[in-house]
Amino acid sequence: MTRKIIIDTDPGQDDAVAILLALASPELEVLGITTVAGNVPLTLTTRNAQLIVGLSGRTVPIHAGCDRPLNRKLVTAEYVHGQTGLDGIDLGDPTVPVTPGNGVDFIIDTLRREPAGTVTLVPIGPLTNIAAAFARAPDIIPRVQQVVLMGGAYFEVGNVTPAAEFNIYVDPEAAAQVLGSGVDVVMMPLDVTHKALTSAGWLAGLRALGTRAGEAVASWTDFFERYDREKYGSEGAPLHDPCTIAWLIRPELFSGRRINVEIETEGRYTTGMTVADWWGVTGREPNALFIRDIDREGFFDLLTERIARFS
Ligand code: RIB
Ligand code: CA
Repeated sequence: MTRKIIIDTDPGQDDAVAILLALASPELEVLGITTVAGNVPLTLTTRNAQLIVGLSGRTVPIHAGCDRPLNRKLVTAEYVHGQTGLDGIDLGDPTVPVTPGNGVDFIIDTLRREPAGTVTLVPIGPLTNIAAAFARAPDIIPRVQQVVLMGGAYFEVGNVTPAAEFNIYVDPEAAAQVLGSGVDVVMMPLDVTHKALTSAGWLAGLRALGTRAGEAVASWTDFFERYDREKYGSEGAPLHDPCTIAWLIRPELFSGRRINVEIETEGRYTTGMTVADWWGVTGREPNALFIRDIDREGFFDLLTERIARFS
């Protein structure tokens, strides 16, 4: 039974790997890709989605969504992802079109059309589109099968401020609305994604495939790695967003705990912090499966095997 998903994304090199993993995996049916402003402005995240889908050779609707957070100025991350958001390899100009219609409307229409409980939302950027869809059409919330998101941090602390991870920090109000909506959330925070570090050997294996997809993933990762190496002194790039897709395909590669997670939206120093009650001290209702650990070898074996399916 294939699982129907919508990927909501701000490509970003790690988003690109997540999208390729999803498009290569028969366990998943990608109903559409919705883009959001995040790593780079919406025009570029949308153009990057076109380039990634073009590279895959697959046919998937791409709808542009929100170009800024619900109530805040957009904060972008060219310092990590480069000016295009997909630096590392030149894929030329897009060969696949953007589908007319706003991404938020696509999310609403798809959830209303598909049988209740059969569509999973996979946000791997700021949660603006998801929150906007829930606010505009609350009737879709109980129809969502699950939200499997990349975002947040607790034991690992933040990557954009000492307290906050980027996706949550860009639009904390949106994150708070999604976490407070009652929808079934699986959260892939930095606590697990910082363990999904690439290696030189893995990159060499991708290049040995001799395919455009293998070369693209290796080149994106090479570019993306330099920021984390300079900041953390780590060898390897953290493949944040692909963790969501890998969980959908092989959840046994991951482990975590169902806990309460609240989003700080008013902190003088902590805005965007995911306040994860890992030890259950607050008595607050658990609202997310908070993932902390990964079978790193199994994860990268899965990635290689699926990327190898592209020519
Ligand atoms: O903090 C990591 C997240 O921010 C990833 O989704 C990356 O693509 C950026 O959007
Ligand atoms: Ca992302």
